Amino acid sequence: MSDASGRVVWLTGLSGAGKTTLARAVERELMTRGVPVEVLDGDAVREHLSKGLSFTREDRDTNVRRIAFVAGLLAKHGVTVLVSAISPYRDTRDAVLAELPNAVEVFVDAPLDVVTARDVKGLYEKALRGEISHFTGVSDPYEAPLAPSVHVKTHEVTVEEGVALVVESLGVERELA
Ligand code: PPS
Ligand code: ADP
Ligand code: MG
Repeated sequence: MSDASGRVVWLTGLSGAGKTTLARAVERELMTRGVPVEVLDGDAVREHLSKGLSFTREDRDTNVRRIAFVAGLLAKHGVTVLVSAISPYRDTRDAVLAELPNAVEVFVDAPLDVVTARDVKGLYEKALRGEISHFTGVSDPYEAPLAPSVHVKTHEVTVEEGVALVVESLGVERELA
């Protein structure tokens, strides 16, 4: 990094793919390295900044743009920002990432059968019963990144291996060496 700005690390993927787990683990790792870091997680953002927004395309895009706006402000002041949000629409992701200098896109990837089996919050069971509309991967689209900076297949690697892939992509070791 040539200036004092932080980086935005944008983790996108299906519900249950491991975005929150990976973001929190990367956060811990960066904190131990003395890097100022914040997490903007979809669930927390929807509880506060985006309360009341639905899961229509329009509201998801509004949510993603709000997250990008806040991430940009934090990064400008030297904070590395880990965004963990489904952010399912490629065009919208591409547009907001293009506005964030040196942003890193991380595809947190696991097949639908794996995330359905994990069903961390019981949401897939409800969605498959038709009790949740617009559920990503079940009744709503997810458009995978075509050329992510980092591709973490969480059904194939451990959390620690995923953390290493993300941290390596930031070049943090080189900077502190
Ligand atoms: S988005 O698409 O970026 O605006 O979504 P995000 O803000 O990340 O919110 C995703 C979390 O909301 C819960 N949830 C749903 N996800 C997908 N589709 C539907 N319909 C839905 N309803 C509720 C769920 O807890 C998501 O969190 P994760 O961490 O992805 O499981
Ligand atoms: P998301 O935020 O994408 O919905 P979560 O992080 O809440 O996903 O849930 C992912 C689940 O998958 C957790 O129970 C986590 O322990 C598990 N998991 C298994 N392997 C991995 C991995 N390599 N990376 C991240 N999560 C993993
Ligand atoms: Mg999550």
